[in-house]
Amino acid sequence: MSFYVTTPIYYVNAAPHLGHAYSTIAADVIARHMRQRGEDVFFLTGTDEHGEPVALAAEREGVTPQELVDRNAPRFIDLMPRLNVSNDFFIRTTDSEHKTRVQEVLSRIRANGHVYEGIYEGWYCPRCADFKTDAEAGEDHLCPIHRTPLVRQKENNYFFRLSAFQDDLLELFDEQPDFVMPRHRYNEARAFIESGLQDVSLSRSTFTWGVPVPWDEGHVFYVWFDALLNYYTALAYARPGEDLTERFWPAQFHLIGKDILKFHTIFWPAMLMAAGLPLPEHVFVHGFLLIGKDKMGKSAGNAIDPFKIMDEYGTDALRFYLMREVSFGHDGAVSEEGFRARYESELANDFGNLASRTIAMVHRYRDGVVPGAELDADRAAEVDALSGEVCEQLDRLDLTAAGDAIWLRVRRLNRYVEERAPWTLAKDPDRADELDTVLASLAEGLRVLAVVLHPWLPQSTDKLLDALRSPQVEFECARMQAGRLGEIAKLAPLFPKR
Ligand code: ME8
Ligand code: MG
Repeated sequence: MSFYVTTPIYYVNAAPHLGHAYSTIAADVIARHMRQRGEDVFFLTGTDEHGEPVALAAEREGVTPQELVDRNAPRFIDLMPRLNVSNDFFIRTTDSEHKTRVQEVLSRIRANGHVYEGIYEGWYCPRCADFKTDAEAGEDHLCPIHRTPLVRQKENNYFFRLSAFQDDLLELFDEQPDFVMPRHRYNEARAFIESGLQDVSLSRSTFTWGVPVPWDEGHVFYVWFDALLNYYTALAYARPGEDLTERFWPAQFHLIGKDILKFHTIFWPAMLMAAGLPLPEHVFVHGFLLIGKDKMGKSAGNAIDPFKIMDEYGTDALRFYLMREVSFGHDGAVSEEGFRARYESELANDFGNLASRTIAMVHRYRDGVVPGAELDADRAAEVDALSGEVCEQLDRLDLTAAGDAIWLRVRRLNRYVEERAPWTLAKDPDRADELDTVLASLAEGLRVLAVVLHPWLPQSTDKLLDALRSPQVEFECARMQAGRLGEIAKLAPLFPKR
């Protein structure tokens, strides 16, 4: 089966921060997991390069918008291999192929009768590139997200007839209760639709940094219409000479933060309906990384630099921390102290220690050869149940539950070491069979855990599986099997204590 997953495309007017890394790593965990299951995966990320925020940033810095995006996009492009993210393509909305396709789709929406010309007047936030409703603008006319002044704007625009899709959207929400996940975000999106939809501005005529409107040269498309279409346009040109649209559209999951819920759960399906294109299966909305109680972000100036953490602790430690610390779908605080605590307890003490002691004991007691002995039935039953659980949880993008299920087994195997005390068994030649079973069960259990954990910790699990001389990560190998492992290598600590 084909499996297409996307991240938001990030604004290039500032440096990438931990929030960007967060969404991208989550999508990567899912993409890698689905590849392990043998699915035909396409994973897209990229940058959102048009619009007023970029034009304003370029003006402030005294360069052209194109110069600014060409300078900043590489910081996002370079982030991906540093995060060990396995995206299949990186889209930039300044790609000429993207622009052409945006023009095609939006012209089709117009030909289908969903676009008209009019005058727009409202409260606008240049940082969000978004008009606010009167309720959002409040009496102080401050942006509810940025707390900066809104601008009263009046301009001649083309409009997208969003209001005409109110009933169709409600029907979609009725028929596909998991179109928006998790449930509390579905409720939020649905309430927004029920409160009544207004038509939205489709073009802007006060600046020129955008995809030109083909039927009126004084206009560029409003950046959100150009940006949302990236999920669709990329498939047409990601592989030179090949159009992947048939193979991968519609997407299974758009993964986004809750700040852009309205665009993805309301505008986007309405646009696709207007264009006569199939809708994505799910939009999964995750929460915010917080610093204390505040959203971490470039505007707040409290953003953590992912490169700095990776320089010190490595990529896997960062990936793991972000996926474990914050309950996926909810907001959660992150901090350097929290990072260190989890590194110590879960990576060094739990998983790292299980790997080190298992491999060391196989060397100490059995000359580095995993015994072909019968496996401990209880351990095998617990570990073998894991892959089914994790598949079911990740089908719902419940990364937190999947991480918990895996960690239960990591801790259980460490307890098994304490319970069976191989160092005592080793002293008694009559109990050699028991020791064989304990060592074989630990080594096989460790191998299966490494396979299932691979999407979270790709580098360390590769290292561990290499030491076990069993590099396969396909889910077919995610069950314990007596006699599978033989001679193994030694292994330096995966997560050295700091
Ligand atoms: O909104 N916690 O780009 P953007 C968790 N270009 N995730 C966070 C986060 C935080 N504190 N801060 C940012 C845009 N993110 C548009 C999107 S999509 C067609 C266009 C993540 O650079 C999260 O995924 O502001 C959020 O939705 C996204 O970055 C916003 O990135
Ligand atoms: Mg933002």
